[in-house]
Amino acid sequence: MEDHIQFDIAEHALLLLDQRLLPNRESHVACRNVGDIVTALKTMVVRGAPAIGVTAAWGCVLALQDVLTRKDGTDWRAAFNTELDRIAGARPTAVNLRWAVERMRAVAQTFQGSAAELLPRLEKEARTIHQEDIAICKALGRAGADCIPDNSTVLTHCNAGALATAGYGTALGVIRAAREQGKKVRVIADETRPFLQGARLTAWELKEDGIEVTVACDNACALLMQKGMVDCVVVGADRIAANGDSANKIGTFGVAILAQHFGIPFYIAAPLSTIDLATPTGAGIPIEERPYDEVATLNNLRICPEDVPAYNFAFDVTPAHLITGIITEQGVLRQPYKESIATAFAKASSR
Ligand code: MRU
Repeated sequence: MEDHIQFDIAEHALLLLDQRLLPNRESHVACRNVGDIVTALKTMVVRGAPAIGVTAAWGCVLALQDVLTRKDGTDWRAAFNTELDRIAGARPTAVNLRWAVERMRAVAQTFQGSAAELLPRLEKEARTIHQEDIAICKALGRAGADCIPDNSTVLTHCNAGALATAGYGTALGVIRAAREQGKKVRVIADETRPFLQGARLTAWELKEDGIEVTVACDNACALLMQKGMVDCVVVGADRIAANGDSANKIGTFGVAILAQHFGIPFYIAAPLSTIDLATPTGAGIPIEERPYDEVATLNNLRICPEDVPAYNFAFDVTPAHLITGIITEQGVLRQPYKESIATAFAKASSR
């Protein structure tokens, strides 16, 4: 699936498959300005670190279109940068959001012409980011496929699939690539409270692809591993610190601890754009806290008494020592991650 994020040049709109409605309804939201993009990101119409980055890149195109229509005589570069800051601030943990905005900003900063002349250049860059993401997921999938044994069951948490990227997926990309190599792979999708990305999105896209998938409550993980029902774990990441500590959907850290307890390999699959060299360790990764109602209600029905508070941390950080390997488009990185990450970046920049 590569069409859930589509830019319509004629309509000046970014069309996003509304992931909040899956698996019950396939309907699109049209974003026509930066306000729409920020709302779509915050409310999780689109979610998943690489998909957030691709959406942000297109959002920068809409930002320039916004600025072009203003006739108030303000400096277009200053106004454009303010809009880009709004997009970059929509969600704090996934570093791909800031990464994509800064890549778009750099194009504008080195551009000498007018705002109108910049527009096609920005569109080109957004399209490149979009297409690169699919190619990177496929390369990452090929690199990681050897980590998946034949005739195995892979547990994943949240959704790190086509829906969380421009297409193909990171963790699910590895599973897709293993299948393309002819391996038999079954998937256990943790349901992933409270937003249910596993039950709603991972199960939906794997079913669409004909990949055997079973949903499990998050709290079944220990039992499933104890029963020998899990051969390996592959999850995505929202931000990886320079030492390999990896932030991913809340609950991932617990899965990693359990995997270590039961001697099960635990892999992170993510593009290099998810690695934040400016953040030395996981302690520096900001953890998003989301609205109360996501935890305290289900289908608009309260599931905890009124006036009782709820925690809604959206991510946790798995320490590097629990991670068997970080699967990237530059191959599978191994401990010590500080060194293997630095080598992967050096390799990528020499190309
Ligand atoms: O809150 P979300 O749904 O944006 O969180 C998504 C995740 O935690 C994914 O596992 C991560 O972004 C990797 S996506 C390839």
